[in-house]
Amino acid sequence: MTPKDIHSFARPEEAVVEHLSLNLNVDFNAKIISGTATLSIKNKTGANQIHLDSKGLNISSVVLDSGEPTSYSMADAVEYLGSDLTVAIKPETKKIVITYSTSPDAGALQWLDPAQTNGGTQPFLFTQSQAILARTWIPLQDSPGIKFTYDATIKVPSNLMALMSAENDTTLHPDGIYRFNMPQAIPSYLMALAVGDLQFRSLGPNCGVFAEPAMIEKSAWEFADLHDMITSAESLYGPYAWGRYDVLVLPPSFPFGGMENPRITFATPTIIAGDRSLVALIAHELAHSWSGNLVTNATWNDFWLNEGFTVYFETRIMEKIYGKDYADMLTLLSLGELRETIKAMGDTSKDTHLYLDLAGRDPDDGVSDIAYEKGRFFLTSIEYAIGRERWDAFLNSYFKKHAWGAIDTKTFLVYLESELIKGDEKLRKQINAEGWIYAPGLPANCPEIKSTELEKAGNAATAYKSGIPAKTIDTKGWTTHHWMYFLRNLNDSLDLKKMKELDAAFGFTNSGNSEILCEWYQHAIASGYEIAFPNMEKFLMTVGRRKFLKPIYSELAKTQKGLEMGRQIYQKARPGYHAVSIQTIDGILGLKK
Ligand code: BES
Ligand code: ZN
Repeated sequence: MTPKDIHSFARPEEAVVEHLSLNLNVDFNAKIISGTATLSIKNKTGANQIHLDSKGLNISSVVLDSGEPTSYSMADAVEYLGSDLTVAIKPETKKIVITYSTSPDAGALQWLDPAQTNGGTQPFLFTQSQAILARTWIPLQDSPGIKFTYDATIKVPSNLMALMSAENDTTLHPDGIYRFNMPQAIPSYLMALAVGDLQFRSLGPNCGVFAEPAMIEKSAWEFADLHDMITSAESLYGPYAWGRYDVLVLPPSFPFGGMENPRITFATPTIIAGDRSLVALIAHELAHSWSGNLVTNATWNDFWLNEGFTVYFETRIMEKIYGKDYADMLTLLSLGELRETIKAMGDTSKDTHLYLDLAGRDPDDGVSDIAYEKGRFFLTSIEYAIGRERWDAFLNSYFKKHAWGAIDTKTFLVYLESELIKGDEKLRKQINAEGWIYAPGLPANCPEIKSTELEKAGNAATAYKSGIPAKTIDTKGWTTHHWMYFLRNLNDSLDLKKMKELDAAFGFTNSGNSEILCEWYQHAIASGYEIAFPNMEKFLMTVGRRKFLKPIYSELAKTQKGLEMGRQIYQKARPGYHAVSIQTIDGILGLKK
């Protein structure tokens, strides 16, 4: 029994989509995708209609099987969810062929002008379907508990390459026609397409990287450990199930750090730091190949089952490859962020429960450190309670047992009880699953994290605050993570003189590292350090990654003067941002209708 998904009109218990066949044309001039979606269905109950999700789609015809016309209706749009597209079917109906086109403002699609790419000469298109945006470019059952296989024929301009979350070719097709096959069943939020001027570089027997020509060298260098990551992940939690694992480096407007589209992770170029220091993000998206893509959250209220497990798994991969000191740095930085998030949400907020109640809301509202980091620390606390060996055995069996399926929080709890707790009253109390999942804040058994490396950076921050000159700080061997911790621990105590001194000593304003810049710009705004503003504006004009935009614009919004400056920059930058980022930043700058 799958639980009801409140973010979909689908009724999979009546009739369910098992295969999707797309035949689409990508029109960059009109910014429209159009063609047919053929849904192979299983009519379980002899239902006389099937309910699909759609948002902003223009449907021109619907026929059944070998061309028999049928009636359909599009209900009034519901906020966030779009419209229930109901198609009349017969008990024996096998196929529904929908001819449709997308609207130019489809939330899943970002159409980039050449100027928004690295090469600057070709346009680019990418999709982002998670959480409930697949319905803005394909009519389907848009619910994570429903899995289907797919194939696609996509026609694009002849000088561009098309990639999907499927088996991909690595070369340009001069006729502009690309055929894809995805033989493994996936949920709709993993439907993905990218079209652009792309090249491929192999990084191992089953992995590689796609990027624009100007980025391909740098990307290949940055991800040199990709193959190691895959073998490390497999050694932890079982064979990689998807054939190839490639990474696509997108133009900088991509609103997320990464997206775990099966076989081909979509990634922001802001992790190409030139020193491989931000590749944990790749470990994260790779880990989703197990947690999320194989074992999928049944509804968006169960989002922590995707992300919490993935952050835990990511950290284990990082520990395996780069060692415990390195993993501890990542973990301690995250714990700090989690504490900040809980403080900001209020420690009685229901949104700090792992299990979310997103009724009437956009599932995007549920994307916070809670699912990711509270989820991870819950799992880490179980590891600490029972030992790594027993915990890994549990996780291996969890992935095996639930592979290719979907799981909700209640089912997870039942599984935890039957396979791990097994009636052990003391262990049940110690694990305190209910406290983590259905209660706010951080339970008392939240692990403490010590990082000897970050301690150095923390001590340096303390010493600096107490008055020692910046240039006397010993920063030898510091990584991105030391710098981030150092900057975070300077708090808001920086005046202009100190900002100047730090900049002279460490060159923050001219750093090429997106994470360090994001920390630095927040200090620059708080202290009125105007020397950094031109670079900050450039950053905001090119980078569309919400994780960076959010804190920078929020810091600007704290004062009237900052807010004015933020609005001015945003007015110019907004047309280049993705709808997902726009939704968030409109809110921060008080521009929501
Ligand atoms: N699946 C998420 C991205 C996502 C979540 C998109 C919810 C839409 C709705 C992806 O795996 C992710 O978590 N990305 C993170 C990076 C990660 C290292 C924390 C991001 O984009 O920042
Ligand atoms: Zn994730």
